[in-house]
Amino acid sequence: MKIINQMEPSFDDEEREAVNDYLKSGGWITEFKKTREFESVIAAYCGSKHCSVVSNGTIALTAALMACNVGAGDEVIVPDYTMVATPNSAAILGAKVVFADIERKSLCLDFEKMKKAVTNKTKALMLVTINGRYPENIEEYVDFCRKKGIWLVEDAAQSLGSKAHGKHLGTFGDLGCLSFSSPKIISTGQGGAILGGNEELMERVRKIRDFGREKPGSDHYLTMGWNFKFTDLQAVIGLEQMKKLPWRVERKKALGKLYDKLLAGLRGAELIPTNYADTAPWFFDILADRREALQAFLDGRGIKTRPFYPALHSEPAYGLKGSYPIAEEVARRGLWLPSSVSLKDEDVEHVCSMIREFCVKQG
Ligand SMILES: Cc1ncc(COP(=O)(O)O)c(C=O)c1O
Repeated sequence: MKIINQMEPSFDDEEREAVNDYLKSGGWITEFKKTREFESVIAAYCGSKHCSVVSNGTIALTAALMACNVGAGDEVIVPDYTMVATPNSAAILGAKVVFADIERKSLCLDFEKMKKAVTNKTKALMLVTINGRYPENIEEYVDFCRKKGIWLVEDAAQSLGSKAHGKHLGTFGDLGCLSFSSPKIISTGQGGAILGGNEELMERVRKIRDFGREKPGSDHYLTMGWNFKFTDLQAVIGLEQMKKLPWRVERKKALGKLYDKLLAGLRGAELIPTNYADTAPWFFDILADRREALQAFLDGRGIKTRPFYPALHSEPAYGLKGSYPIAEEVARRGLWLPSSVSLKDEDVEHVCSMIREFCVKQG
């Protein structure tokens, strides 16, 4: 039986040759010129003034919050539906995570509910552009935070290649974070980046990721810092992956449109609207009435899927009470379908015909 994975990264001869050439050149593997080049390429692609790469997306979020001086006594507003790295990056710094519900349309933080969650202790807001989608009024979040003196940190880990009204996601907030983990549109195995336009803030990020050093190689420490650094070995892979990104963005959009066409009007499997002019979906997603049964049905036919993240407030790590109806509903019904950029049209047709068969059988 042919197995269709839910997600797999794509590396080809170009990455293999680049790694080989790099090792032959005598590079020290650790971050150096290739890392700086990778940062420039990402910054140029996203239209961001600065880019700082770090070990992974979680660290990118943590370093961004550290640069905003988030710590004990502060509150950070986070959507209840997101990957757990978003709230964890605030909690690990001693800040109080305040969850707010999401909006049904984009599955991103709901503007009105977010406003209700603000107190005089709110230090930062983490806007997650989940699956490359964004709230239509994204500029209002920016204005609101600016007026209130709240840092806006965008978690754009799933949004490389996606825009809002033509502007790259991750460039709306004070700082924006990307991830290059294995399931992302480009991957360096692990990796993350912080985008930003404010030189002073980005300088803080650079210090935080390098032990608080005055400058690389110096043993004079101006701030508290860690070792959040990247490696040139990953950067040479990332540089090759970035060359493929424009094609991948178009392919993701084409695959998403095909899924939408083939699953339209199906009872029991609801599509989440996607604006393909802006969004290159990370994963292809549906809301299914009988999710577990559908997942088992597809699994029995070699089609791998993955349930959405849980509503995080109720996870044991947070253990909070409260009502977050939309996050709870999508957490219960959401299913990620096969989403690799290497999927063939026939694979998507097969997946959709199996979903159709399931939905018709279930009436
Ligand atoms: C929304 C979101 N934030 C943060 C992360 C964490 O990124 P990383 O796995 O690179 O640490 C992820 C990873 O999937 C994510 O999807």
